[in-house]
Amino acid sequence: MDRIESLRRAVAASPADPALRLMLAEELTGAGRRAEALAEYERLLTDDALPPDTLVTVGELAAAEQALPLLRACLERAREAGVVEGIGRLQALADDLVRIRVAADGAAPAAAAVPVAPETLTFADVGGMTEVKKVIHRMIILPLSRPELYARYGRRTGGGVLLYGPPGCGKTLLARGTAGECGLPFVNVRIEDVVDPYLGMSEQNLHTAFETARAQAPCVLFLDELDGLAFARHKHRGSDARRLVDVLLQELDAIGSDNDGVLVLAATNAPWDVDEAMLRPGRFDRVLFVPPPDEPARAEILRVLLREVPTEGVDPAALAARTALFSGADLRSVTEQALDAVIEQALATGTEPPLRMAELAAAAGAVRPSTLDWLTRARAYVDFANQAERYADVAAHLATREVRRRLRTGA
Ligand SMILES: Nc1ncnc2c1ncn2[C@@H]1O[C@H](COP(=O)(O)OP(=O)(O)OP(=O)(O)O)[C@@H](O)[C@H]1O
Ligand SMILES: [Mg+2]
Repeated sequence: MDRIESLRRAVAASPADPALRLMLAEELTGAGRRAEALAEYERLLTDDALPPDTLVTVGELAAAEQALPLLRACLERAREAGVVEGIGRLQALADDLVRIRVAADGAAPAAAAVPVAPETLTFADVGGMTEVKKVIHRMIILPLSRPELYARYGRRTGGGVLLYGPPGCGKTLLARGTAGECGLPFVNVRIEDVVDPYLGMSEQNLHTAFETARAQAPCVLFLDELDGLAFARHKHRGSDARRLVDVLLQELDAIGSDNDGVLVLAATNAPWDVDEAMLRPGRFDRVLFVPPPDEPARAEILRVLLREVPTEGVDPAALAARTALFSGADLRSVTEQALDAVIEQALATGTEPPLRMAELAAAAGAVRPSTLDWLTRARAYVDFANQAERYADVAAHLATREVRRRLRTGA
């Protein structure tokens, strides 16, 4: 313990001395203080001061702590340095970690291939949005629960569903709720779990994610930020990105043809950036607009946001009525700004006043709904990019009085 403490002091005195830091890191590892050791190793790696012969050991330590980015960085650096011994083992550890991540959606279970429990969040937890829920029900849930009905009429089922819309408006929530409505596990693949700067790794990670989903079937596989994974090839000529798109296409086609019980949902804020090939039949052939939360949804979001706050006379429904086009995140800033005002009053008066409508209304007036920028961009695609048919739902939304008025005033 003493030795660690004096090494710490020495490192603090000469932070640029890699030999000292390495000694500290090794000492911490020896004492079983792995997280602290990793912090020092990470710093050394960033400074490019980690000796190549330690990279595999540090990578293994990172794996033990489920520190995937550090593990990958060690792997990459070891490859660059021409390290051979132990590389295969590190790669396997990285694969396992992705598998665990994907299977458990970020939780940290003890072993790989852990079965994911059926999703418990349902549409009852998603406020308002009746129209979108109805469409999802017809598009996804009904074909899944009554396959014989669709077969009798020779109606094709399957293929993925792409949810798109402005950020913070419930796409992820709806995807999770869809899995819950079907009583299926929700396997969430986030872009940061897949994309890896090292050549070929992203493709392998993506394949691993699909393998995990197949092992969990029947389940819902959710690809968040699809535009990041499937960026349009014509806009992005880099061969790396193209390879990732190709792998994604292969995996989607395999899911479609094997009919192996994996329902694929995806979400994006930028559907116009998604490679056209993704939208062909059997892939994401159903594209669904998730608009900004409607009034009942906003009231529900506000109720959740204010659950733990001392209030007096606050009426979420009334506030919802005056926050058209606000996203979930916008509503969060409204409540935060209102609370800042109350805290200021508390400091000035030495009392603890409750949150009232006055502060909330003032904050609502000061926050500009962030969906306006998105809707403005979307309007350009609807109007000028010859995409009117694909974005018919957006067009309808843009034509509502509320949106027209706000887009005109830009406020
Ligand atoms: N209809 C709703 N009912 C209850 N909460 C909601 C609703 N819509 C959004 N929220 C809340 O707003 C936040 C943002 O929702 P969510 O993460 O699903 O948005 P998103 O569309 O996936 O956003 P992004 O594009 O940024 O990923 C969440 O905290 C969610 O709980
Ligand atoms: Mg999301």
